[in-house]
Amino acid sequence: MGRVGLTTDRLLLRHPVEADRARFVELFTDEEFMVFGAQLNTASANGRFDEMLEVSNLVEYAKQPIVDRASGTILGYTGVGVIDFDGVDYLEWGWRLVASARGKGVATEAVAALLTRADEIDDGKMLCFIEPANTPSRSVADKVGFDWWKRAHWGGDPKEAVDVLVRAVGVGGALLQAPPRPAMGRKIES
Ligand SMILES: CC(C)(COP(=O)(O)OP(=O)(O)OC[C@H]1O[C@@H](n2cnc3c(N)ncnc32)[C@H](O)[C@@H]1OP(=O)(O)O)[C@@H](O)C(=O)NCCC(=O)NCCS
Repeated sequence: MGRVGLTTDRLLLRHPVEADRARFVELFTDEEFMVFGAQLNTASANGRFDEMLEVSNLVEYAKQPIVDRASGTILGYTGVGVIDFDGVDYLEWGWRLVASARGKGVATEAVAALLTRADEIDDGKMLCFIEPANTPSRSVADKVGFDWWKRAHWGGDPKEAVDVLVRAVGVGGALLQAPPRPAMGRKIES
């Protein structure tokens, strides 16, 4: 799998590396960064970062740092993670920025660049989940080509509504499933 980063006018997108852990644990435990998401404690933030590293070994356009080229600062992330949707592990696209980087077109610039890379690699349909009140996120989704598909509910809870959006990747096709992940821990067979 190629490890070359993508650059745009203002940004660098590259796979996460172990040296990014402290920055992502800082971000994942920050209330403002995690708005419209679950704020994590140090242990679960480390687990989330482990997952980023793991998925980035399997998918070229996995969640990865969005780096400000001018300063070298990690402003947030975009790319895919894995989500269990109706009992199947699918790829799900996400984006998140520090508050000081919002309102400047950064998310659209980063997401559009990485989606273009995904278009070159895979064919299928990409999922994205956005809470109905999250208009800034919906605006990004609209601009990069996601369409509303249906309303679903986190954990099946009717009070926890979420909009499900989809976008054709490459020539399109079936919903993009997560690649099988290597088994964690020791496996015993008799
Ligand atoms: C959702 C989120 C990633 C959007 O980031 P963003 O960079 O502000 O989004 P955009 O790329 O749409 O940029 C916002 C505005 O900057 C404006 N802008 C300012 N300077 C710009 C420039 N140089 N180039 C392009 N747009 C610019 C754009 O006009 C855009 O407004 P628009 O919607 O009217 O087009 C950000 O608000 C965030 O991190 N929110 C919290 C986390 C979250 O909710 N994540 C999603 C969970 S589903």
